Amino acid sequence: MTEKEFESHLPEVMADYVAEQIRVGNWSPTDADALANAQHRQLLPHGFDTPGMHWYVARTAMNVSIGYLWLATEPTDASADAAWIYAIEIRPDYRGRGFGRRLLAVAEDEARRLGATAVALNVFGPNRVARRLYESSGYDVTSLQMRKPLN
Ligand SMILES: CC(C)(COP(=O)(O)OP(=O)(O)OC[C@H]1O[C@@H](n2cnc3c(N)ncnc32)[C@H](O)[C@@H]1OP(=O)(O)O)[C@@H](O)C(=O)NCCC(=O)NCCS
Repeated sequence: MTEKEFESHLPEVMADYVAEQIRVGNWSPTDADALANAQHRQLLPHGFDTPGMHWYVARTAMNVSIGYLWLATEPTDASADAAWIYAIEIRPDYRGRGFGRRLLAVAEDEARRLGATAVALNVFGPNRVARRLYESSGYDVTSLQMRKPLN
């Protein structure tokens, strides 16, 4: 991914993350932007050039950009030998055709190449498509947060 592509994708990555944090009830809509900005500053102090952060664009053979991957080899919240997938996304009109599984396989190959011995990630509970992808690709649950709204 080029720096220009990074700058165009990052707002989408952040917006999706904020929407999911609100959707599952972790963040209130009023605090969400401030929390996201704080995490952004912590994770990407040097933006695109932050050490240990790796960005990829998925393209078809016709060079159409259909998704992206954000992989970290210096994760802040995983064991030292694990690479962390912060974002993996296939464009909506290209989903359900096997590209997500292929991009995940690329993430694993890249993680191995960069010296990691495991890959870890966070997935929100309601995201059943992603959970099925990870479970059927050999990922095990390492921790599980639960929440019940009190009416
Ligand atoms: C998750 C995502 C990357 C999967 O990409 P995709 O190209 O649609 O997935 P694939 O076609 O490779 O399918 C991979 C697996 O996902 C699951 N899956 C895909 N579409 C599904 C659907 N509509 N319903 C249920 N499971 C589905 C299946 O387990 C599938 O494996 P199978 O085809 O062998 O049964 C894509 O849906 C996406 O970009 N979602 C929005 C961003 C996101 O949620 N990212 C993950 C954050 S943790």
